[in-house]
Amino acid sequence: MERTWWKEDVVYQIWPRSFNDSNGDGIGDLNGIIQKLDYLKELGISVIWLNPIYQSPMDDMGYDISDYRKIWPGFGTMEDFDQLLREVHRRGMRLIMDLVVNHTSDEHPWFQESKTSRTNGKADWYIWRDEPNNWGSYFGGSAWTYVKERSQYYLHTFSRKQPELNWECEAVREAVWEMMRFWGDKGIDGFRMDVVNGLSKDTSFPDGKPWSTGFGDPTPYVKNGPKIHDYLREMNQEVLSRYDWLTVGEGSGNTPEEGLLYVGRDRHELDECFIFTTMEALKPSPANGYRIEPVDLAAFKQERARWMTGLERGGWSSCYLENHDLVRSVSRFGKDDPLAAKMLATVVLFEEGTPYIYMGEELGMTNYPFTDKAQFRDLQGKSDWDNMERLGFSKDQILKVLQLQGRDNGRTPMQWTSGAEAGFTTGKSWIGVNPNKQTINVKSEEKDPDSVLAFYKQAIRIRRQHLAAQYGSFSLVDKDNGQVYAWTRSVDGETLFVACNFTDQMQPFPIPEGKKVLGNYDGILKGQLRPYEAVVVSC
Ligand code: GLC
Ligand code: CA
Repeated sequence: MERTWWKEDVVYQIWPRSFNDSNGDGIGDLNGIIQKLDYLKELGISVIWLNPIYQSPMDDMGYDISDYRKIWPGFGTMEDFDQLLREVHRRGMRLIMDLVVNHTSDEHPWFQESKTSRTNGKADWYIWRDEPNNWGSYFGGSAWTYVKERSQYYLHTFSRKQPELNWECEAVREAVWEMMRFWGDKGIDGFRMDVVNGLSKDTSFPDGKPWSTGFGDPTPYVKNGPKIHDYLREMNQEVLSRYDWLTVGEGSGNTPEEGLLYVGRDRHELDECFIFTTMEALKPSPANGYRIEPVDLAAFKQERARWMTGLERGGWSSCYLENHDLVRSVSRFGKDDPLAAKMLATVVLFEEGTPYIYMGEELGMTNYPFTDKAQFRDLQGKSDWDNMERLGFSKDQILKVLQLQGRDNGRTPMQWTSGAEAGFTTGKSWIGVNPNKQTINVKSEEKDPDSVLAFYKQAIRIRRQHLAAQYGSFSLVDKDNGQVYAWTRSVDGETLFVACNFTDQMQPFPIPEGKKVLGNYDGILKGQLRPYEAVVVSC
């Protein structure tokens, strides 16, 4: 057992635009985060991950960066950032940033220069072709956009405002290393790496298998490309090895075997990777014709188990049920029931790997009751809406699909109070505030010893008290049970047994003898789990 800080930490993800607004313009900001650091400390988390706060035209909410060394004015200034970092460190916490280097904004000076001609100094910094292939963008439409000055097309697997950097070009890689060191020298504690398995492409650009929209799927040719591990090893040598960092990679579509190639200790690349496929499989998308499928719990937990045990072989995993790209977990799995929110807390805090909690998850925040296209802000949600309309879906069907995958569900303001705009802003929020702020909010949950928030605090504390919760190896129990997710975690003579009822019905389930250390009901029933019951027993 090799002890390391980031294996024992609990990470809290902040999507800055919706966390806390300090100046009444309706947009969350860095000073707003500073005001809430004591809340986070009290919650028991030790690392904060910030979604992108860099200069950006905000086409994809900051994942389109036009200057990596500036703060988007809506979030504040570089002085505010320095202050935030100091305040985080002063409280004994750490801060990691989002690293988005698969693409930049089309408004980044690098692209502005690159698009002017085929001969300028940055002509090969992006991916230019004379003819497009059939690839579609993940946000709708073609993945190629024509530029007159060059009579060529550039590649963007996301929006047309997110041109893909050409990692084959050495000068691009050097510019990225230099930018990373800029932040490293400021004293940040690591990076969450966006689309990190997409940096190396198949440069023969073969057509992809058509999606329901008719465009070809680029995925097999833009993920885990031939040079990806050369690039990451170079990144490690040039940057990561110089700092005591946590690095965690987003790797959409990766298998655990592929994941291990990124995070194996002997590989000198990254520290952790998200167990991505386990959550992504639950999304209706253009790839499956927006088909709605019920959650198959047996498949879900087997996939999670496959990841956790797969990464045990020399790597480390990152467990999550929510992020800014997903809907709220309690709406997805538990009909908005606070008991279910506590059960899901038990899942994410007692699985194997570093737990990632997304802002508001600790309150049991739910999906937003969207009723109309005009309420959506996310470019992907809007493009999915148009796609489904074209495919002949009714408005009701579209809204139903968006309840299962619309990213705006997780992007509504953090609910601090039951007051106007949930206490998020003194002005008018940039996106709808969930009307259930009346009952789901920090202020009332702080007063209620039985709240979801109180349960999170307790669960985080208990996780820290048990080495088995941090380092125990994972073993799935009753793997075909489609109602109950149960497992053990064992290390150094302690075994924790965890059982989580994913249904709103009683379920027959034997709990072994031992000392109960956590649960969302009083006591333990013999041979039965109550609706959404979660229990952790030390054996
Ligand atoms: C990642 C981010 C997502 C973003 C996309 C393009 O998947 O999590 O929010 O839209 O990359 O940068
Ligand atoms: Ca603001």
